[in-house]
Amino acid sequence: MIYPIVKYGDPVLEHEAETVTEFDTPELHKLVEDMFESMYAAKGVGLAAPQIGIGKKIAVIDVSNGENAADKLVLINPNILHAEGKQVGEEGCLSIPGFREQVRRGRLVTARAQNAKGEAFEVTGEDLLARALLHETEHLHGRLYITHISALKRDLIKRKIKKKQRAGEWE
Ligand code: NI
Repeated sequence: MIYPIVKYGDPVLEHEAETVTEFDTPELHKLVEDMFESMYAAKGVGLAAPQIGIGKKIAVIDVSNGENAADKLVLINPNILHAEGKQVGEEGCLSIPGFREQVRRGRLVTARAQNAKGEAFEVTGEDLLARALLHETEHLHGRLYITHISALKRDLIKRKIKKKQRAGEWE
């Protein structure tokens, strides 16, 4: 099932998500599958559960955009263990469509998470994967990438979004 993507302005995006405590249930496996499907449909490389209106610490990432099954990553209750180096590059978010900004991030990132069976694992990624690990983990803490840009740029984006909301172009 493809879920609609929740857009900026919905409080679910800016709240700490709940820790997942039940694993390996048919519901959880189905949700993870639906999250991949929803992410591919929206042409994203990462999706966090709050972005489909579910306030739980679950995220999916696929930096290959569905090209390579080995790149599919399920992160439940993730934490960033280590980030080093830096990269500056364009970043966007499915919940803030139509906007992209330069964001400085760590270049090499290690996260610890659980899979859908509840097994803990660590994943280390560089470049785009490092950026995705940081971006999606932050989503689960209610933090959006626009908190990393200047207040001036952020306010400009918020003003443009308000205008779209008034015009009924932001639902
Ligand atoms: Ni995002």
